[in-house]
Amino acid sequence: MMNEAATPLGLRVRLLAEAPQTSAAQVVPATTVGDYADEATVLAFADHVDAVTFDHEHVPTALLARLEAAGTPVRPGPAALEFAQDKAAMRARLSAMGIPCPAWRVVSTPDALADFATDVGWPVIAKTSRGGYDGKGVWKVTGPDGVEEPFTALTHALGPTERHTDADGPAPDVVILAEEFVPFTRELSVLVARRPGGQAVVYPVTETVQRDGICHETTTPAPGLSPERAAGIEALGLRIAEELGVVGILAVELMERPTGEVVVNELAMRPHNTGHWSIEGAVTSQFENHVRAVADLPLGSTALRAPSAVMTNVLGGTNPDLVGSLSCVLADPDVRVHLYGKGVKPGRKVGHVTVLDADVEGARRRARAAAAVLEGERA
Ligand SMILES: Nc1ncnc2c1ncn2[C@@H]1O[C@H](COP(=O)(O)OP(=O)(O)OP(=O)(O)O)[C@@H](O)[C@H]1O
Ligand SMILES: [Mg+2]
Repeated sequence: MMNEAATPLGLRVRLLAEAPQTSAAQVVPATTVGDYADEATVLAFADHVDAVTFDHEHVPTALLARLEAAGTPVRPGPAALEFAQDKAAMRARLSAMGIPCPAWRVVSTPDALADFATDVGWPVIAKTSRGGYDGKGVWKVTGPDGVEEPFTALTHALGPTERHTDADGPAPDVVILAEEFVPFTRELSVLVARRPGGQAVVYPVTETVQRDGICHETTTPAPGLSPERAAGIEALGLRIAEELGVVGILAVELMERPTGEVVVNELAMRPHNTGHWSIEGAVTSQFENHVRAVADLPLGSTALRAPSAVMTNVLGGTNPDLVGSLSCVLADPDVRVHLYGKGVKPGRKVGHVTVLDADVEGARRRARAAAAVLEGERA
């Protein structure tokens, strides 16, 4: 999707892909297949580019620092990216900035997790500080019986990008972060795009629905958010981007308390699933503004192109033939479909659907109907 945004600007994308069949490799002709964690591979790749960016956050920061030292602009840079890779570092930094966060503590033993829960009240959330994604590496611990599990999991591979094996024992830089369970009324996100010199733009606040740690649906602008709260959240996003020196897209995931106050859940520094609506729904998509920021070009307008934009993710279900369902889905002329060229597996994100509509409920109904046809029965 970054490539789709870069092409009309005449910017050429070179891709370092994990495997030849990845989604991006299917659409970027200049693809090198290689290991993004291997220093020689990344340094050789960077010889042929003017700047480096990512579509995930798992490239080791030490390697990115080497790239920077070798003269390649890395955007976002490793100093900022640290706070998207390491949730414990993120909590410490945001708390020091006075940004509202859930109560939190780094805990090194199951007993320490139980002590934290005694202080803040059960249930609590435990997270691995690094390597989690789509809810993997996040546990809701409801009572003393559950305090062992996060620590047991620490010794297992955490995600697709964790090279760590059981035999190695826990990775030294991964810890368990304990958090107060926030009884949120809904989740929100705000996206900022920022250039190296500091110019920044912010998108309207998005309401997001996560189930089992996976984003299912977004609505933009977030319904029922007062202009004051929306402005406060936008200012919070801009401030974090500025203070951390982010270049490119920063996504701030938030939880809204019953009082209407928000706390930060986590940060992402790349185009984010909760910003996919912007392809059709904003004058300039998050992908284009990411590419512009990385290329140090003026940023585009983030204004909405419709009163509301709803994005529904398409998850792998019982329908193996997504393209075969298009004649039905596209019968609604306002449904915009994005399929990622991935094999259908239960629960895997294989695409998304966006509908712009003056009526939020109408947009939701149409986007959900389209996603439901593409999915078949959900896994
Ligand atoms: N302190 C908390 N209180 C209540 N719910 C929480 C808390 N922290 C996380 N959650 C829930 O768990 C979900 C996943 O948490 P988090 O975003 O930290 O995990 P992740 O696996 O890194 O997610 P992502 O796929 O966005 O990278 C959140 O979207 C939220 O629904
Ligand atoms: Mg998250």
